[in-house]
Amino acid sequence: MATLLGGISPLIAVDRKAGAPLHKQIYDAYRARILDGNLRAGQQIPSTRELAAELGISRIPVLNAYSQLLAEGYFETRVGSGTFVSSSLPDRLTSLGEHGVSQPDAGVGPRPIAERAATLPHEVRQPWVYNRGAFNVSQPALEMFPVGVWSNLVTRYSRGLQVSALQYGGAMGLEELREAIAAYLRTSRGVRCEAGQIMIVSGSQQALDVSARVLLDPGAFVWTEEPGYWLVKHMLVAAGCRLVPVPVDKEGMNVVTGIKLCRKARAAYVAPSHQYPLGVTMSASRRFQLLDWAQKTGSWIIEDDYDSEYRYESMPISSLQGLDHQSRVIYVGTFSKALFPSIRLGYMVIPSDLVEPFTAVRHAMDICPPHLYQAVLADFIREGHFSRHIRRMRLLYAERRSALVDCIRKEFGSMLEIPGTEAGMHLAVLLPNGFRDVDLSTKAARQKLWLWPLSPCYLGENSRQGFILGFGNTPAEEMPTAVRRLRSLFPNTAS
Ligand SMILES: Cc1ncc(COP(=O)(O)O)c(C=O)c1O
Repeated sequence: MATLLGGISPLIAVDRKAGAPLHKQIYDAYRARILDGNLRAGQQIPSTRELAAELGISRIPVLNAYSQLLAEGYFETRVGSGTFVSSSLPDRLTSLGEHGVSQPDAGVGPRPIAERAATLPHEVRQPWVYNRGAFNVSQPALEMFPVGVWSNLVTRYSRGLQVSALQYGGAMGLEELREAIAAYLRTSRGVRCEAGQIMIVSGSQQALDVSARVLLDPGAFVWTEEPGYWLVKHMLVAAGCRLVPVPVDKEGMNVVTGIKLCRKARAAYVAPSHQYPLGVTMSASRRFQLLDWAQKTGSWIIEDDYDSEYRYESMPISSLQGLDHQSRVIYVGTFSKALFPSIRLGYMVIPSDLVEPFTAVRHAMDICPPHLYQAVLADFIREGHFSRHIRRMRLLYAERRSALVDCIRKEFGSMLEIPGTEAGMHLAVLLPNGFRDVDLSTKAARQKLWLWPLSPCYLGENSRQGFILGFGNTPAEEMPTAVRRLRSLFPNTAS
């Protein structure tokens, strides 16, 4: 097993006044740490010299304790490497329960957790979540990312690291990056903003979390899109909100229905540029209805603009925030799709009068975002790599999208309905009556075909059956095979 922690000192204390000799105290402490699982098989142990220095005692009792532990098989030495917890400890001492965690002892009594946490579904355990391969959702074409350019920037930045960059930063994020994002959003997304309103977050998920903490008391009603993005709903439930699913049709969220269901909701979450999962774009009249509702009821709109860099039939649609003259919209964007998901960087545009409470809450959450990738990303944008990458990816995804739509038409004829294909890196297909998407997705996952079922995106009873098909990560030439594999899940059905 690999060496862990490079011989970091375990929690061992000795007491000179205690009755037991020092070597016995050291022996007992190590044995107890190993038996309770805090020291693991293969983990390196500090040298006798290091431990003696750390405990402020002579080396002799440490040597005695180590030789006893070696003799009993708790420790082993490796020539030239040092002393380790024995790699052949019985499984009983090293095995972990489900999820790789040790379980609490039996009989520890009631262990209550918050109801909102207890009721969260565990969709993340489904096989189609975050697996790589044809059709998986949320997967950009990572092999096309300019890794060389990015690594050079990381190296350049790390080599010249200033001591000032090691200090806590501002809760809103790095000034240079906020300036770069504000310029990009004004120019490309029609967002009305200054750098002072931009907060850097660890992906749009954190933006929604901060927004909920600032704007929504527990118990607040929130409109969510039906069907809608699962992780937003989970986050709102975790924040104690009550969700009002508002149906989405070809024009996006149906605002009139939302008003009938719950006029006084405190907020609405929408993805107007490219609705997730159906892929439709919110019409201009719905946008104005939504803004009008928010204005009349004093409610907030959270606009999730997660992948609108990629629009194929027309120029990117300008943001809802850009139409808002009453500062009711909190605009949220991410680099997860445009660059890569593990970057964990996104941004939000906060109405100027709310900057202070947002800053205070963010500071209480995690103080400030980490520095390094913010600085690297600021350079990546300012030096033109970001816009170059987006331009290349737009062409690539357009090709992959057309290949997917063509193959679906060829293999399925009119059997599958596709509600929207103008943008993003995924599209939804709706199944005819009689098919159950979760069953088919489960069957497909056994063949390593990752199909996200549509029906779990609904909160209400009237769910449609279908799939959300990601095309970002599947080369156009592999699309015919992938779609034929999809077709083989429906044997003996006419197209
Ligand atoms: C609707 C929607 N919003 C946002 C995101 C991105 O989230 P994050 O920025 O937290 O990675 C996704 C990713 O799949 C998404 O589908």
